[in-house]
Amino acid sequence: MSFTRRAFCAGLAAAPLTRHAWAKAESPLLTARAATVQLAPEGYPATEVWSYDGLLPGPQIRLQQGSRLIRRLVNDLEVPTSVHWHGIRIDNAMDGVAGLTQDAVPPGASFDYAFDLPDAGTYWYHAHTNSMEQVARGLSGPLIVEESAPPDVDRDEVLMLDDWLLDPETGSFAGDFGNPMMRSHAGRMGNLLGINGRYDFSLDAHHNERLRLRLINAANARIFVLRLEGMTGWTVALDGMPLAQPEPVSAEIILAPAQRVDLIVDVTAEEGRPAALLSYADDDSWQALAEVVVTGRTSRTARGAPAPLPPNPRMAVTGLADAEIREMRMEGGAMRGMASGRFKGQDLDFQQLVQRGQFWALAGQVGLGDAPFARYVRGETARIRLVNDTVFPHAMHLHGMHFRTVAADGTQGPMRDTLLVRPQEGAEIAFVADNPGKWLLHCHMLGHAASGMTNWIEVD
Ligand code: C2O
Ligand code: CU
Repeated sequence: MSFTRRAFCAGLAAAPLTRHAWAKAESPLLTARAATVQLAPEGYPATEVWSYDGLLPGPQIRLQQGSRLIRRLVNDLEVPTSVHWHGIRIDNAMDGVAGLTQDAVPPGASFDYAFDLPDAGTYWYHAHTNSMEQVARGLSGPLIVEESAPPDVDRDEVLMLDDWLLDPETGSFAGDFGNPMMRSHAGRMGNLLGINGRYDFSLDAHHNERLRLRLINAANARIFVLRLEGMTGWTVALDGMPLAQPEPVSAEIILAPAQRVDLIVDVTAEEGRPAALLSYADDDSWQALAEVVVTGRTSRTARGAPAPLPPNPRMAVTGLADAEIREMRMEGGAMRGMASGRFKGQDLDFQQLVQRGQFWALAGQVGLGDAPFARYVRGETARIRLVNDTVFPHAMHLHGMHFRTVAADGTQGPMRDTLLVRPQEGAEIAFVADNPGKWLLHCHMLGHAASGMTNWIEVD
């Protein structure tokens, strides 16, 4: 089940060099509905997707820091849905988690989302009702919150990375979204990779042009491993949050599901020379995920390292010394399993859990239990030690607040909302629990989240 090289190349030759134009997101409506989109190369059938406003990815929502986002979700699908605004320090009631912060919006109904945007940065929105299937079918889009003093770049480009598992014969999504084999292993991996809904995404640029690239990993399970060719880059933000100092991109960029990275890149390639965002492919080669076509040059000369982005409010984690460390053990999955898990009030062994389509546990809890993993008093410092006792990597995401990693010597890492924890590794995260409400802490490999790797915390 793959796209043949010959057909793929034929498709490439035939494909017009259209540029993805972001639709203006001025409408107060965000309509979840079916649409037909040409995801596969020309010559292959089009794909029936679930979209926001008929687009894949959904419309780019771009607002100023400190402003208010207002959207009425209209559900024109035949299934219930809801929208989560990933990475936003949001009012709990607007967080979009069906079954925890709101009821799913039934077909034909609507729900009004309205909330402030306290932090600048690169975020995204996606379905949070049966997200394993709904996000894979296309329900996600970028959410950009602009700094009041944006950095000095020639252009700002949003690149939403994704992969789709398609049947080349029919163009439809292949297999069953709940496939237990995938859910108990690394997750649903696509056979076609792309950016902004295109497998052949490309950008025009000039030599010495300075671009801000906002990369968002919207894939269900794929960890993108990326490299720059013909460009010199600096990482200026992770998961929306500015780094104190830009860091030169010297090695691979690892982007786990739901993670974002903001790069400032200078196009160093001369006209006609190769430049690209390369992605490590399953066959061990580096493929251009985004081609950068260098046409002409700017009048500018090379500029050197960029200045840091302006910081967002509330960047530090204080009070570490007095905080209790709670351990959240990640267990389960193929090749390892778990001793036992507590599943909605019952103690079941691994075999019984597997029969219920549940393969994973967080802190002994399989799926969303009635009680939170931890309760915090508002303003309390939280420390959680994530221990990955499985043979798979997991992208752990906390809703409502960003955290920092804390190294063994107490050094704090950059602020993130999603952390990749590799097999047999551990990592401590810490944050000031200052946003009241019920917040999910789950794996963003969405098949894992649906089969047990979902827990939550409560801030009173
Ligand atoms: Cu991006 Cu709970 O999700
Ligand atoms: Cu996982």
